[in-house]
Amino acid sequence: MRKILVINGPNLNLLGRREPEVYGRATLDEIMTELTALATGLGAEITHFQSNAESEIIECIHRTMDDGTEFIIVNPGAFTHTSIAIRDAFLAAGKPFIEVHLSNVFAREDFRRRSFLSDIATAVISGAGKQGYEAGVRVALAKLEQQ
Ligand code: DQA
Repeated sequence: MRKILVINGPNLNLLGRREPEVYGRATLDEIMTELTALATGLGAEITHFQSNAESEIIECIHRTMDDGTEFIIVNPGAFTHTSIAIRDAFLAAGKPFIEVHLSNVFAREDFRRRSFLSDIATAVISGAGKQGYEAGVRVALAKLEQQ
């Protein structure tokens, strides 16, 4: 079984209630339940971690160095645009990852166009809503197959 970790950053625990016109009406629990079902059908195991704290996300990325995680799907929320520390954690861990955003960050405020992660990500999916996570899992599995 392939081992994929999904990380969701700050404010994503409020999905469903948070600006639903931008982020959709599905809750994080609903998205992760659907994603887990999809992954199981594709022969992969999903672990999910959400935190509003930068340090906890960094420590979660560090743990992947020893816990058998093969690929990471990450929606870093606003830390995308601010966190060199999360970038450094990904560089340290050396695990491939896909950056996912529910909204199209390129069609919003200018500050959302800058990502400290995109250039070191395997792929970036932005604006596909919750299907972005599903696409992320499919791409991750395809990339692992190619290794
Ligand atoms: C987001 C986009 C970010 O700019 C924002 O800060 C978020 C969510 C998205 O999923 O569209 O919290 O990552």
